[in-house]
Amino acid sequence: MRIGPYLIDPPVVLAPMAGVTDKPFRLLCKRLGAGLAVSEMTNADPRLWHTRKSLQRMDHEGEPEPVSVQIAGYDPAMLAEAARFNVANGAQIIDINMGCPAKKVCNVWSGSALLQDEPLVARIVKAVVDAVEVPVTLKIRTGWDRQNRNALNIARIAQDNGIAALAVHGRTRADKYEGEAEYATIAAVKAAVRIPVLANGDVNTPQQARHVLDVTGADALMIGRGAQGRPWIFREVAHYLATGELLAEPEPAEVGTILLGHLEQLYAFYGEQAGVRIARKHLGWYAKDRPENAAFRQVVNRAETVHEQLRLTRDYFAALAAGDRLAA
Ligand SMILES: Cc1cc2nc3c(=O)[nH]c(=O)nc-3n(C[C@H](O)[C@H](O)[C@H](O)COP(=O)(O)O)c2cc1C
Repeated sequence: MRIGPYLIDPPVVLAPMAGVTDKPFRLLCKRLGAGLAVSEMTNADPRLWHTRKSLQRMDHEGEPEPVSVQIAGYDPAMLAEAARFNVANGAQIIDINMGCPAKKVCNVWSGSALLQDEPLVARIVKAVVDAVEVPVTLKIRTGWDRQNRNALNIARIAQDNGIAALAVHGRTRADKYEGEAEYATIAAVKAAVRIPVLANGDVNTPQQARHVLDVTGADALMIGRGAQGRPWIFREVAHYLATGELLAEPEPAEVGTILLGHLEQLYAFYGEQAGVRIARKHLGWYAKDRPENAAFRQVVNRAETVHEQLRLTRDYFAALAAGDRLAA
């Protein structure tokens, strides 16, 4: 799949997730096989650009290209200005958020709430595309609610106004994250437009990835929650798509090495205190698959310092690896 001048290879992309896809996580996912990793959304309101949080979100130093930055808002002129500002800060792709169902975002008429107002969607897309030289992508849901699945209209508006690629999450705004993603609407969108389409929603295994590509005909996949605590999902999916064969699960020793590296990056990026706090949710995700992990989570969540968090994590994975060696 191409987005403007960029070849996205493999066509497996880390979805934007506020509070998750920060620079340390994006770098990790790219290293483990993601063809592209989209930033957390940045607010289009310039009053919020100089907060510590925004400045961290706009830090792309050392990030491999293409750097894709998501912007969220409702005012075409403000979004255009935000796009220009982010390009000046290193963004090589601008992604517009029309997929987020969060109240905080929708109450001010942004995110997926915009899908209700097609003329406004057209104005926003045009304003942003005209504002920057870099490719602009759009992320949407299948519609506002199940009676109003207008993804096809939105997709045509996107194409007509110069959007370079379209990501579709197979749920409506009213569905929030409930039920299972529905891929028929994504297939209809793909059949109706010439621009590349990324299919998103509930891709958690290599087999599901193959299935979603087959039933939608999409050009690429976008993976969100399936990458939480499993950043190696990208290499697993890429390998399966290329060969039809499943890679072995990573050994505990490798998971430990990946996790410890991730923790170090979090401390370096956020500083020790915030790094320890932010690391907790990632530790919980890495530990979610094994039954013995509940105890680990309880203990490691109490760690207050870098030293303690690292020691508990190192000891735990060393014990797991030793247990595996004994069992073998
Ligand atoms: C914690 C979290 C934060 C998210 N933040 C954003 C966001 O900032 N922008 C956006 O467009 N979508 C956001 N999403 C939606 C995801 O990008 C994705 O569309 C959704 O999770 C469905 O894909 P999945 O089933 O692979 O997780 C978020 C989802 C989660 C779980």
